[in-house]
Amino acid sequence: MSKMHPDLKEYFRQFVPSRDPLLLKLEEEAQREDIPIIGPVVGDLLHLLARVTQARQILELGTATGYSGIYLARACETLDGRLVTLEMEQTLAARARTNFQRAGLEHRIEVIVGDALDEMGTMNGSFDLIFLDIDKEFYLDVLTHCRRLLKKGGLLVVDNVGFKEADNFNRAIFNSPEWETVHLLSFLPLHSPEHDGLCLATRT
Ligand SMILES: C[S@@+](CC[C@H](N)C(=O)[O-])C[C@H]1O[C@@H](n2cnc3c(N)ncnc32)[C@H](O)[C@@H]1O
Repeated sequence: MSKMHPDLKEYFRQFVPSRDPLLLKLEEEAQREDIPIIGPVVGDLLHLLARVTQARQILELGTATGYSGIYLARACETLDGRLVTLEMEQTLAARARTNFQRAGLEHRIEVIVGDALDEMGTMNGSFDLIFLDIDKEFYLDVLTHCRRLLKKGGLLVVDNVGFKEADNFNRAIFNSPEWETVHLLSFLPLHSPEHDGLCLATRT
């Protein structure tokens, strides 16, 4: 007889982290408008990863309304860190800026409007952590820039790698000697979608 909980998903729903009213509001908006966001489990995971890696310079690709950006910027607050976040939709970027103000984080966050591939091509800097969350078909295109912009030993966190469009990216990073990778298949309550893959990778 199995020693596992009979309904693992139901069991793990009780461990969804609590959120403040602003994050709850962004979750409601995301659900209403069908905006795919990471949800509180991946939010807390990003927060935890940024804290344990002592990330001070963080790059996010795919801002949307700023939900994940709030987790990342809060994580680097004690180190007086900064978040740069890229979003190609002007209206979403404007909403994110308002939400960063509501969170009292605007001084810590730069929102850049533009295509991630174009913008990264013009960027310099060395980031401690990069969170990749744009349209999956572009993941492989931006991977070279992620490597160039990430510090040696820095951490790349990639969302939504369970999508078919991420297949070429998954294979490339998994087989590359330039990255040490872990692919996780996860149940992620309130993530879009709840059953998806995450990839964690570090620059070798
Ligand atoms: C999954 S959503 C990001 C969700 C956000 N990270 C969160 O959890 O709160 C993806 C976002 O990336 C943006 N995006 C997609 N492709 C992009 C690209 N090539 N360059 C910049 N932004 C892009 C979309 O407009 C969308 O807002």
